[in-house]
Amino acid sequence: MHTQVGIVGAGPAGLMLSHLLHLQGIESVVIDKRSRTDIEETIKAGILEHGTVELLHQTGLGDRLTRDGSEHHGIYLRFNGRNHRIDLSGLTGGKTVTVYAQHEVLIDLIAKRLEDGGQVLFEVDDVAAEDLTGDSPTVRFTDADGTAQVLGCDFVAGCDGSRTYTRFLIPEGEVRKDYFHQYPFAWFGILAEAPPSSDELIYSRHERGFALISTRSPTVQRLYFQCDPADSVDNWSDDRIWDELHARVDGEDASIAEGRIFQKGILHFRSLVVEPMQYGRLYLAGDAAHTVPPTGAKGMNLAIADVVVLSRALDAFYESKSTEALDAYTSTVLRRVWRAQQFSYWMTSMLHRFPDANDFALRRQVAELEGVTGTAAGAAYVAENYVGLPFS
Ligand code: PHB
Repeated sequence: MHTQVGIVGAGPAGLMLSHLLHLQGIESVVIDKRSRTDIEETIKAGILEHGTVELLHQTGLGDRLTRDGSEHHGIYLRFNGRNHRIDLSGLTGGKTVTVYAQHEVLIDLIAKRLEDGGQVLFEVDDVAAEDLTGDSPTVRFTDADGTAQVLGCDFVAGCDGSRTYTRFLIPEGEVRKDYFHQYPFAWFGILAEAPPSSDELIYSRHERGFALISTRSPTVQRLYFQCDPADSVDNWSDDRIWDELHARVDGEDASIAEGRIFQKGILHFRSLVVEPMQYGRLYLAGDAAHTVPPTGAKGMNLAIADVVVLSRALDAFYESKSTEALDAYTSTVLRRVWRAQQFSYWMTSMLHRFPDANDFALRRQVAELEGVTGTAAGAAYVAENYVGLPFS
């Protein structure tokens, strides 16, 4: 087998890269260890930035998004028992975000790739990418039928998520450096069959810890609360979960609406950036190269932004044999990645309860939130970053 771009990983980065390349007349093959069902059913976050939504519409992926996505013009930061609205569209010249779950985007992307004759191979095993520093790298794998395959390619894209294999193909130390930050808490997330608790997302800072009120549809809600990273789902009965959410959110202008909980999970928090994001003919994109805590709702959006830049750079190579944009890939995307990293870190530290926080720290945190929600400059900073920075 031969293709122009061998793509390891059928998540948002890999599938969107394959889709964008196809629109530019560049061939690719996507491989993934997981089954199609597994990819299409794994629950992840659900906020699409303004630019991500525009891209999905512009590239023929807007049908279900238009029907099932829900556009949001603002978010609330909640503290001292009150909601403080950040007017996203008013502060950004009309930009918004859309609630549409990541696995829905993947369902749309897989369907589109297959409809366009794209090759997406699920349930592969024994993946090994080789000869990355030469002109013709190969990707070896065993396909779903158990047959050994050798895929020759011009380029390899490492889009295999946070449990990446491709990241480790960049030699650590002499070439690769990982910038890592661990947080002393996690999120407990639930999906519940319930009416919405709020018309817009609520990011709630409370002395018991952070809580986030999000949504999936008029009948399904996504709620999270800060917990100990060592905690276990088994410690949380449905009643205890609702009690905790009520305690952290209910008040004058907000109250939690209960319903049947049908999914529970604990999400661990990390910040990570890998530099450089390329090595020979290997280019990393998405979570294989960087992870953000979910507080800024940036994860999938960063993956999409990476592959927009990468697809353009590959297009420039095939159009004119110029490697200028490919050579600049890491420095182009990393500026945006570090901005998103900073925003996610900052939102996280402003809203969560740190285990070692003293009374001074708690008062200071409230003053910070008052400064952010009570000044045009503070609110604009949140809004601009939340709706998403330009792709490059
Ligand atoms: C979600 O709906 O899953 C969600 C929303 C906003 C975030 C993180 C997750 O910041």
